[in-house]
Amino acid sequence: MLLEGHIAKKLKAVPNMNCLFKCSACLSPTTDVVLVDKATFGNLSEKNPQGFPVFSYNELEVATNGFSASRKIGQGAFGSVYKGELKDGSMVAVKVLSVELDSLRGEREFIAEVAALSDIKHENLVPLRGCCIEGAKRLLVYEYMENNSLALTLLGPESNRKKFGWEARRDISLGIARGIAYLHEEVQPYVVHRDIKSSNILLDQNFIPKVADFGLSKLFRNNISHISTHVAGTLGYLAPEYAFSGHLTRKSDIYGFGVLLLEIFSGEPIVSFDLEHGEHYLVQKAWEMLKSDRLVQLVDPTLNHAFNDEEATRYLKVGLLCVQQTASMRPQMSTAVKMMTNEISLEDVKITKPGHVANILDIKVGKKPDSHTFSSSKASTSSTSYSNHSTYF
Ligand SMILES: Nc1ncnc2c1ncn2[C@@H]1O[C@H](COP(=O)(O)OP(=O)(O)O)[C@@H](O)[C@H]1O
Ligand SMILES: [Mg+2]
Repeated sequence: MLLEGHIAKKLKAVPNMNCLFKCSACLSPTTDVVLVDKATFGNLSEKNPQGFPVFSYNELEVATNGFSASRKIGQGAFGSVYKGELKDGSMVAVKVLSVELDSLRGEREFIAEVAALSDIKHENLVPLRGCCIEGAKRLLVYEYMENNSLALTLLGPESNRKKFGWEARRDISLGIARGIAYLHEEVQPYVVHRDIKSSNILLDQNFIPKVADFGLSKLFRNNISHISTHVAGTLGYLAPEYAFSGHLTRKSDIYGFGVLLLEIFSGEPIVSFDLEHGEHYLVQKAWEMLKSDRLVQLVDPTLNHAFNDEEATRYLKVGLLCVQQTASMRPQMSTAVKMMTNEISLEDVKITKPGHVANILDIKVGKKPDSHTFSSSKASTSSTSYSNHSTYF
């Protein structure tokens, strides 16, 4: 069967592409998706012998009503996100990447990476349905999540927070933890998310939390540098060692998760400001409350004390354990899950001071990991923003 459509032409033009395509019409009369045989990409074919969908731009244009403003559901650092309906009736979120083409991987590698990411499936991860490559256009197609992100639904105004009781928050945080644990401990090779934050936690129609945007950095040529372009909005979630030296490990994700936990249960923003206290950070506040044995008072007042104190303290302590300044002291994700569910007792676990990044000028995330640039002396000379809480409390 001859390959049809301009995607196919484009891909054919890529040297060494050698993809095996199936004519879309043979697969489904209702879609012009082209399936790329994963045999081209080595072991990927074993997992999904049916292939990986590469959508045509035209199909996504139709699905999103011409990328109309009314279909726009969000704007992130990489571009705009549109709600779309595919011909088969399924709803999708189409992310139009608006980054320099040069910064992205070449077509063959791009498809291979998207294909690999689409193979990562877990109840608590947003499924990647496919991508589109046409000329300079690069789009990613995700399953649509009905209830948007935690940033918009749970966090924010009191009216939002009131809708989420203790159990809902507990289940959401456990789901997030399980999604991250899967990326860190089940997927081979493991995936460091790099951008754990409330707008990357989406909720489906049943309010099941799904971690979005994992592995996005794999689509970039330089696996790291793009992060620096949108670091400002997510400063509070950045692990200090990552921010200051580009030293990235799974423990950097654990840090972001710890911040999320504190946010979810306190309902407070990561950084707040009032005339009495000036600027204060949630991780600092939680640490202070732990030290004065008042941690449970951090729980969101909109919950009207409708929770078990011991359980609440446990979840907040896990949050604090995850944001400890020393990365090696943070638990791995599956351990954090067991601590949350009380399979592992926190009784003998020592919680040390948290770290946080307070000054964007100190961020060097664009650099590759380099042991010479990360040392305690470096951290201590990089201004007061590398918060050593012993100096605060
Ligand atoms: N799969 C999806 N389903 C529903 N809404 C989504 C989906 N992906 C993204 N969004 C919405 O689009 C917004 C922008 O997403 P994104 O470009 O990833 O930027 P960010 O994660 O920085 O917010 C998200 O905050 C969310 O509101
Ligand atoms: Mg996102």
